[in-house]
Amino acid sequence: MLTMQNLCDHYRFTDLDAERLRSLQPLAEINLERFSIEFYDYLYSLPETAKILNDSNRQRLRDMHNSWFMQLFNGIYDNHYMNHLTRIGHAHVKVGLSVHFVNSAMNQIRHFLLGLIDDNYSDREERRVLREAVEKILDMNLDVMSTSYREEEMKKVFVSRKVESFLIKATERFTYGLNLALVLALAGVSLSVVTLFIWDIMHIFKGDMEKGILSALGSLLILWMMIELMDNEIKNLKGGKFNILVFIGVIIVAMIREILISTLRKDDLTTQAFLAGTLLVLGVVYYLVSLAQKYHSKV
Ligand code: HEM
Repeated sequence: MLTMQNLCDHYRFTDLDAERLRSLQPLAEINLERFSIEFYDYLYSLPETAKILNDSNRQRLRDMHNSWFMQLFNGIYDNHYMNHLTRIGHAHVKVGLSVHFVNSAMNQIRHFLLGLIDDNYSDREERRVLREAVEKILDMNLDVMSTSYREEEMKKVFVSRKVESFLIKATERFTYGLNLALVLALAGVSLSVVTLFIWDIMHIFKGDMEKGILSALGSLLILWMMIELMDNEIKNLKGGKFNILVFIGVIIVAMIREILISTLRKDDLTTQAFLAGTLLVLGVVYYLVSLAQKYHSKV
């Protein structure tokens, strides 16, 4: 568990830094009102933070943020101060504020304070040490606030972190295993399709030329799609994205094969029209999905 002493050591925050911050107290006091106005102008300028402000007790909130600002220059940074910082993270999680906005707000506060030092201290060395002390205390604040933020969010998500992380890992492994089994099964099926192709070619030698060529063409189409499917699965196993288009392609190819066979079987017109209609619908779906994918890759 991190103590205030650890935090000071890690950020090389010394008693001298504490003294320098305390020396800024009068300047902070004079500029408190301006800080408050600029801070809230910023928060109201973003729709996400403005919504949170509108749902809160504004005066109480302003008092809390002002008090935090003034405590930066208190000169006392003990475990009590650290507990206060830890509470802030919890308070923000409770109101549904994203940690992203805490970071961006801290950036604004940093600009405000560094500007204040630049405008009020003419000596270069003095400016440098004061800036350094301010940077340290703000970063330490952000560190504790975001750590407690993460802890609070974890509490919200996990009933028991150990059990949940075990379950997630086990499910991930299981899915990986299933995908692996799927690739192997696809490889097995592809071999059967090769056999089917050879069988179809045999028809040609047996004298049934038309049937042989059309069936062999159908089998080749299926084989081609099997390769695509396996390729997709292997990419998936390597962490790539699942491509739904390949699956629609497989159904289209299966339909084309069915149409080829249907002509050979001399099926009635309704069956053939039904197959052609289905193929048309699948074609339109394929086109729409590929269009959507292109659009998403551009955005
Ligand atoms: C560096 C940035 C920020 C600091 C240092 C800060 C500081 C604080 C502090 C000290 C409290 C009082 C916590 C307590 O003792 O219970 C507080 C509460 C609160 N802050 Fe911030 N805040 C920051 C950013 C923000 C932002 C970006 C918002 C967005 C609207 C926000 C909204 C709130 C709200 C709504 C509460 C009240 C929670 C409650 O009702 O308990 N704060 N904040």
